[in-house]
Amino acid sequence: APLMEIDPRSPVPKYAQLREILLDWIEESRLGVDDAVPSERELGLTYGLSRMTVRQTLDQLVDEGKLYRVPGKGTFVARPKIEMSLRLASFTEDMRARGFEPGSQDLARRVAPASGHLARVLGVAPGDPIHHLERLRTADGEPMAVERSNIPLALAPELDRHSLAGRSLYRLLEQEYNLLLDSGEQTIEAGLCDATDAKHLGLTAGSAVLLLQRRSYANGTCVELAISTYRADRYQLHSTLDARR
Ligand code: GLP
Repeated sequence: APLMEIDPRSPVPKYAQLREILLDWIEESRLGVDDAVPSERELGLTYGLSRMTVRQTLDQLVDEGKLYRVPGKGTFVARPKIEMSLRLASFTEDMRARGFEPGSQDLARRVAPASGHLARVLGVAPGDPIHHLERLRTADGEPMAVERSNIPLALAPELDRHSLAGRSLYRLLEQEYNLLLDSGEQTIEAGLCDATDAKHLGLTAGSAVLLLQRRSYANGTCVELAISTYRADRYQLHSTLDARR
């Protein structure tokens, strides 16, 4: 690969040129995941840049999640983010398909009467009993998301008797209750992590997260309303775009 240099006559700011160079290193695997990036001093010397400029580049790449810093150690290449599935897949299926070992830890489970709002969303009567499942989802043991599922008790009686530790809820619904989820809708929005979820996810409160609301149906009946918090430093969304016509 040609050795890239900073072009002092380019209209592109120097920090942005250095960013392109470092991204190239990552994309061409000259720097792998968890590899150390040369120090600010070294980069400055190599490319004839001030330390301020180098710092600006590194700060930006850290903010973008491409690099991470370890205080006192240096700056390292971050893992690529996981593309969030935009299909009606279970967490378990989805993580397996990506080569991660999915995990699930119960944070809370209870049955409570549906509020007016929840009843409307789930299409049941207010006061109807609803299962609330709160789970920490992990990939290769690393916390990825907190998922809160609401499922009408009538659809899955005694769901609370089944352990969900390390198990797929969708699988269980299918096997035990014959509920095969066949359609759904989902909203994804930006959010800030509250203190509770931050603790579970190993983030600091106020970190960026993706908030998901999913309603899934089996044969026209709403089975689950899930409200989930996904780590924004580990997930991104990708879609193909159809031409407008
Ligand atoms: C996804 C959905 C959740 C759903 C979960 C089921 O993560 N966002 O709404 O509860 O899948 O996953 P599993 O079957 O692995 O428990």
